[in-house]
Amino acid sequence: MTSDSHDGDHRACNRALRPFLKWAGGKRQLLPVLREFYPESFGKYHEPFLGSGAVFFDLAGRLTNGRVRLTDVNADLIGCWLRLRDSPDAVIAGLRKLATGYHKSPNEHFYRVRNDEFNPARSEIMNGNGVRAEAYTSDLAAMFIYLNRTGYNGLFRLNSTGQFNVPRGRYRNPRICDEGNLQRVSSILCELSVEIEHASFDAVLQSASTSDFIYFDPPYAPLSTTAQFTTYTAGGFGAEDQRELQRIVLGLVSKGCHVVLSNSTAPQITALYGDNSEAQKLNIKAHTVPARRAINSNASRRGHVNEYIITNVRGRTG
Ligand SMILES: C[S@@+](CC[C@H](N)C(=O)[O-])C[C@H]1O[C@@H](n2cnc3c(N)ncnc32)[C@H](O)[C@@H]1O
Repeated sequence: MTSDSHDGDHRACNRALRPFLKWAGGKRQLLPVLREFYPESFGKYHEPFLGSGAVFFDLAGRLTNGRVRLTDVNADLIGCWLRLRDSPDAVIAGLRKLATGYHKSPNEHFYRVRNDEFNPARSEIMNGNGVRAEAYTSDLAAMFIYLNRTGYNGLFRLNSTGQFNVPRGRYRNPRICDEGNLQRVSSILCELSVEIEHASFDAVLQSASTSDFIYFDPPYAPLSTTAQFTTYTAGGFGAEDQRELQRIVLGLVSKGCHVVLSNSTAPQITALYGDNSEAQKLNIKAHTVPARRAINSNASRRGHVNEYIITNVRGRTG
């Protein structure tokens, strides 16, 4: 079990550790609220919608060796995390070279790397289902970070033929190679023997045991009830996935796990976790919290909206 070291220590010693990617829906802004719901003690930590891992990095000082499992369905993302864990020097060397090229000629360099280097190298490690995360090379990982730091809003998007097609972002002087942070990230992943795997979220029901802590940060259910709502969402995560996720959450809580889930306050989510739901019968509460949305490219439309933190952990304030 990890000891109860709320507040001070773990954040002080990991002050300099931060996500090495920008990721849509990244949770850095919500951390002060989420911290209220970290369990006092727990067994293994699981993060099945890893992205840039903001909560993992926030918790890192409280985690113990061999008791961390990070997964995501994006094979490129997982391939990048794996190579950074296992071959940081090669990833950093590649990234340093890419940064030099970018600063000499940003536009030309970005599109040359994307079209003539990254996409062809990715297609060499594809099977019928896409890229194989374990086959990701350190060169690919360096290019993945480079395209993330210099591409539009840090997006990762593939076209219908499976080619990465995000345009260059409008950054004047992007920080491409933060060598110190990349080394620290790699060290913590090794020190904690972190398991990193390409997997869908439902696998966590098998891998988690009593008293484990699971933080779920799925693509949020859309707030508007358009036709898309019931069929398909931009993240490929639709209403059926949200229902399956609720089933997994209930299964984990029944097993005696500590579960925290963030999501939007869309009507479907209220129906799954609000008053009179199956979740409520298991003492899972949907807390409404204010959160700042940064996903609108128009700064004036980035307002405060409410979100849910859905959990069976009793927050420190309530
Ligand atoms: C909102 S983001 C997570 C952001 C993360 N908390 C952070 O701080 O960056 C959602 C993540 O879920 C992943 N994802 C989407 N569908 C998934 C699925 N079926 N199983 C596992 N991960 C999935 C996406 O690849 C994406 O990385």
